[in-house]
Amino acid sequence: SPLPKLYQPLTVRGLELKNRIVMSPMCMYSSHDGFATDFHLVHTGQYALRGVGLIIMEAAGVAPEGRITPNCIGIWKDEHIDKLRQIVNFAHSNKAAIGIQLAHAGRKASTTAPWLAKIRGPNADAAQLGWPNSVVGPSAVPYSEDSWKPNELSIEAIRRIQQDFVDATVRADKAGFDMIEIHGAHGYLAHEFLSPISNKRTDEYGGSFDNRIRFLVETARQVRAAWPEHKPLFVRLSVTDWVSPSAEIPAGGWTEEEGAELARALSAEGVDLIDCSSGGSSPLQKIPLSPGYQVPLAVAVRKHVPGILTGAVGLIDDAKQANDILEQNKADLVFLGRVLLREPNFALDGMAQLGTFAQYPHQYELGRKKVRLPP
Ligand code: FNR
Repeated sequence: SPLPKLYQPLTVRGLELKNRIVMSPMCMYSSHDGFATDFHLVHTGQYALRGVGLIIMEAAGVAPEGRITPNCIGIWKDEHIDKLRQIVNFAHSNKAAIGIQLAHAGRKASTTAPWLAKIRGPNADAAQLGWPNSVVGPSAVPYSEDSWKPNELSIEAIRRIQQDFVDATVRADKAGFDMIEIHGAHGYLAHEFLSPISNKRTDEYGGSFDNRIRFLVETARQVRAAWPEHKPLFVRLSVTDWVSPSAEIPAGGWTEEEGAELARALSAEGVDLIDCSSGGSSPLQKIPLSPGYQVPLAVAVRKHVPGILTGAVGLIDDAKQANDILEQNKADLVFLGRVLLREPNFALDGMAQLGTFAQYPHQYELGRKKVRLPP
């Protein structure tokens, strides 16, 4: 019988993925001054040892003010490259592909790691090495009453950030990453331009659909031009804000129709895959959580944009569920987040669950079967 689709290879441009399991980017809040550490080497490396086809490293700030927290990794200076290269080399030596997410957190920057938020509150002030006065956004509109008020970006500052994305792209190539993903989701900067909830601009970067998508489309174009032709470029989108018109937000939020249309524009810029996530623009969002709840967004993007690849993400935590999504042509890759933190062996165990031979690393083969002692 043929291999379950979850374990079939996929070639995107010059990159052959050994299977369709992607480790979704997840912040580990374990850096200082943007530097990846031994924590990242061991953490990331374990997934390279345990069968994940493509590992995408967490949101890396393209500028210091673009980090979500003071403890997020960064890729805004050349000094960051060496440690990242070590992580990349380890992944490659274990036959895993590896990429990194390039991000600017916009108005949701300078916050605290989740476990610190419980003690110190959600925002990182100067004493916590935050940058409350340098938080930026398309408009001077905070995310919530408790959030920092962003400074509205000038056109010059917008161009500077786009150049930061390009410079980060060049560094990602120097580190040896196989692919990059632009973070265009979850209420961070690129998404803040997309959503009318956070974008109140009246210049060419705000107002109409074409104006709101301009920042991300231009950034993708510039990044694509700086990234080697043979390497894939992904974009993570919040395909919808999940905000309907209401008394508080009469116009509602960014919609699934807009998300799908943006995917078309990104595809025309040479973006290979849309990683279909959602939400993050407003505390008033209403997310219909259920297993695989974002899969229909991947389906919608696929239907709307011929030839685009899609990634499905969100509450996919069973190998059969993941395989069905692919077998039913709802997406081309599955992105797994929290389940991999709980079950680092997910990719190997899934092979056994789906009835195919588990390709354990040679070093671990003797541990495949529990020793049975005679009674
Ligand atoms: C995340 N998520 C996330 N998303 C992203 O685009 N960039 C990031 O850096 C992070 N960081 C992050 C940290 C942690 C600890 C979690 C749990 C999540 C979202 C993540 O990639 C994924 O989209 C969601 O977690 C939904 O998928 P799962 O976890 O249900 O498989």
